[in-house]
Amino acid sequence: MANRRLAPAAEQPESFAFTPENAAWVKGQIAKYPEGRQASAVIPLLWRAQEQNGGWLPQKAIEAVAAELGMPAIRVLEVATFYTMFALEPVGRYWIQVCGTVPCDSCGARELKDMLHERLGPSGHVDPTGTFSWLEVECLGACCNAPMVQINQDYYEDLTPELLGKLMDDLAAGRPVKVGSQIDRNASEPLGGPNTLTDPTLYDGSRVGAWRKRFEEARKDEAAGQDEATSSEQQAATNPKPARPDAGRPVETAASDAPAQRAAAGEAPVKSGDKAEASETEHSTAGKSEAPASQPTAIKDLEPAGAEAGAQSSLPRDVPPPQPIASGEEEASEPAPDAESPKLPKGRARPKPANKPERT
Ligand code: FES
Repeated sequence: MANRRLAPAAEQPESFAFTPENAAWVKGQIAKYPEGRQASAVIPLLWRAQEQNGGWLPQKAIEAVAAELGMPAIRVLEVATFYTMFALEPVGRYWIQVCGTVPCDSCGARELKDMLHERLGPSGHVDPTGTFSWLEVECLGACCNAPMVQINQDYYEDLTPELLGKLMDDLAAGRPVKVGSQIDRNASEPLGGPNTLTDPTLYDGSRVGAWRKRFEEARKDEAAGQDEATSSEQQAATNPKPARPDAGRPVETAASDAPAQRAAAGEAPVKSGDKAEASETEHSTAGKSEAPASQPTAIKDLEPAGAEAGAQSSLPRDVPPPQPIASGEEEASEPAPDAESPKLPKGRARPKPANKPERT
């Protein structure tokens, strides 16, 4: 870090005063601030004093600025010693400020400092020709093009010791130099050119109104989806389908457990106790391995095929087997069976539930 002390007394001038031109400029700067806030002009005034004095601030210049602003000299000295932009010792015609902060340091600032030390001597001293002096400073805000130096009021970036040496040679010889990056880089773009926002449609105006097209297409898709949903609902209303197919479901008829139809057929109404009993006997298979002992003999006679695994059917071979009645079909000649009773093949008598008393 730079030494922030005033120059030795031997190098300090006897006096300092703004030139008439700079004095008028100073009055204009002070007038920019409201009454009682003139101290806010301290930095521009110090900068102008430094420029007038050949690039560095003597103690007399600091005191002159304090007098202009009505500030204690120590307050102005605090400002001058804080900012490295103010040189407190004489500098060369070209004052080189080398950034030594981490990004620049990791990109080669140390090699630049070594080169400057070898060519000009220690920092803070003007070279014998009075052309150059150098100083290490903190970040100068050009980290993306590190390492870099500031020479007087210009930045020189992407440096190597060789590039900085050539730059100093050109400056000393009065040749024109390139300010900014010293390699093939435009401003602070990535090396090799920009690699983001390269889509030409970003710049040719074709994207103007593109958002409107996207919203219109989204609206169309939404409307098409609603039409499809409406069509499905209408189709379901006109052509309803069962929630599940009939296959495997118990066969039920409109006449099942219909007391009016039983009465019309001359049958006695089914009692609730009889229904529960019949349901338990005919549908429950849990824990049953064989038919109840009290099952009537007629049921066994009427279940010739498949009633028992491996049993031989007693029906004659030339008679087609009885066909089951399709779902929803009724036999007009037979009365409606009980709701819990399974549908029997055509031509068979309905068995009586176990333990069901004979009706009289
Ligand atoms: S670290 Fe060097 S310019 Fe920022």
